[in-house]
Amino acid sequence: GRGDDVFARVVAWQRRHGRHGLPWQGTRDPYRVWVSEIMLQQTQVATVLRYYERFIARFPDVQALARAAQDDVLAAWSGLGYYRRARLLHAAAQHVVERLGGRLPQDFDGWRALPGVGDSTAAAIAAFCHGQRVSILDGNVRRVLQRWWADDGEATRPAGQRALWRRAQALLPPDASPQEMAAYTQGLMDLGATVCTRQRPRCDACPLRADCAAHASGTPAAWPRPPVR
Ligand code: ADE
Repeated sequence: GRGDDVFARVVAWQRRHGRHGLPWQGTRDPYRVWVSEIMLQQTQVATVLRYYERFIARFPDVQALARAAQDDVLAAWSGLGYYRRARLLHAAAQHVVERLGGRLPQDFDGWRALPGVGDSTAAAIAAFCHGQRVSILDGNVRRVLQRWWADDGEATRPAGQRALWRRAQALLPPDASPQEMAAYTQGLMDLGATVCTRQRPRCDACPLRADCAAHASGTPAAWPRPPVR
């Protein structure tokens, strides 16, 4: 049926056209991926690149981060902004060391339980590091999928978000490999950031164009439409 190969198309697109060689790719070290995903929550890739390696060099593992003074963590974060993220990351590192014996979580639920880790960040880490079959739904990815389905803005409401997440889960093949889960997850994010942009989407470069309902409508940028009240 429709959508049978969305997963395969996104994986293939990511391998050819997605972003590669970022310092947190090519590693499945959950600490490095975790730090990068917290930085990427509210900061663009280009900016994160300027701070990421220095932060990792200063705090190379969760133990080093946990025992650091908060002022040192905030100093290493300066330039990234939204310092609440750094405070929560530091608190989460202390939680991991003090309560989890220094062992980082190994699945979505475990990551989601850490301070500062929401649904989308937990899903990204679980897909990248553990190959877990779990969908991310950050703002960019939500837009890609809502356009493909010509879904409206209900997904900004809790019930609509849950419905969209269930439909997103149904796009994941039961036998998706860890490598494919990582490529698919990064591919959806990259599509949303570079092709399926909020304004003037570049549909000619999109692997989902052939059966995208928003593209078929002739006005893809009009989706997702605001919810009807
Ligand atoms: N935003 C959140 N996570 C990201 C990632 N892994 N790559 C690019 N943008 C992101």
